[in-house]
Amino acid sequence: MKALVLAGGNGTRLRPFTYSLPKQLVPVANKPILVHCLENIRDIGVSEVGIIVGDQAAQIRAVVGDGSRYGIKVTYIPQAAPLGLAHCVGIARDFLGDDDFVMYLGDNMLVGGMAEAAADFVARRPAAKILVTQVTDPTQYGVAEVDADGVVTALVEKPAQPRSNLAVIGVYFFTPAIHAAVARIKPSRRGELEITDAISDLAAHGGTVTAEEYRGYWKDTGTVADLLDCNRLLLDGVQGLHAGYVDTASTVTGEVIIEPGARVVRSTLTGPIVVAADSVIEDSCLGPHTAVGRNCRVTNAGVQDSILLEGAHVSGVTGINGSLIGRWATVGSAGPAPLHRLLVGDHTQLEVAVA
Ligand code: DAU
Repeated sequence: MKALVLAGGNGTRLRPFTYSLPKQLVPVANKPILVHCLENIRDIGVSEVGIIVGDQAAQIRAVVGDGSRYGIKVTYIPQAAPLGLAHCVGIARDFLGDDDFVMYLGDNMLVGGMAEAAADFVARRPAAKILVTQVTDPTQYGVAEVDADGVVTALVEKPAQPRSNLAVIGVYFFTPAIHAAVARIKPSRRGELEITDAISDLAAHGGTVTAEEYRGYWKDTGTVADLLDCNRLLLDGVQGLHAGYVDTASTVTGEVIIEPGARVVRSTLTGPIVVAADSVIEDSCLGPHTAVGRNCRVTNAGVQDSILLEGAHVSGVTGINGSLIGRWATVGSAGPAPLHRLLVGDHTQLEVAVA
């Protein structure tokens, strides 16, 4: 079996971050979402991985390289424009050959992997197998109707009036029968070649499509709220390790990872927290569920339930909560209240506390 990972697309819901960073590289618990995804693929024993890349290919290549550091062998497949998930299968035809494959959306987090589903696909080998989960608002997803035997009877992309509450998760198992279906379908109303249409076409031509309800934690990390939710869940699983420097005036409680080269000075850290290498936390309080990327500085500040990307600098501001602070971004104090000085980029979202 091979794997096809989709890491192109636009990431409009995660602007402004995605202007300069592919959404698949946003870190959760200090590791890019895409790396979590590649590790799940490696863990089911698949080593030949094709990655679809778009405009921001160079950054994906810089992180993943040839894949050897994750125990896989990567082939990059450029996509000129985000023309749909089934379009990705089409342009990967040469790479995939006549092998079975798992297609994995590079912005999906499946904590706990998908080993059982992969083993079941290999054992039974239906034409295609999808994973589904119950959601309260299915309108944002592909929606499946499934009979008592686990066979998919209908599949619709983002329906206004969903006929079930089963959302399609971004991990799909395919036999090569999917290629003929991809070749038959036409672009949808939004102009994309939809994988849901290809799977429906496959079923209409006699292919068995099965669905399994995913029992683990799953998120499509399309929004900041989803990213923070994932971050909390992963940090809840970390085990503390103080490899960096912590001075005697600091208090560190709970599970806190302080990576080599990081420094904690006159600060209070209440885990779970990860502080990446070469970051400095000084005269500050870090609260639970904070992930601090590499080379960050937090000085005279209070931060909790937040993600700081590489190089972020926070000083003189307390009460930072539920926040995502971009690479090399600066959050500082303008001096005494009530004046704020804001330099706000396109599509940025700021929520300032008022007295
Ligand atoms: O997350 C699950 C959902 O993912 C499913 O329920 C839907 O059926 C499926 O269509 C998909 O919906 P999204 O609207 O979330 O897909 P999105 O446009 O975010 O693309 C998913 C991933 O694929 C993302 O990492 C970007 C990448 N992509 C997307 C397109 C359209 C590409 O690499 N190329 C593309 O042309």
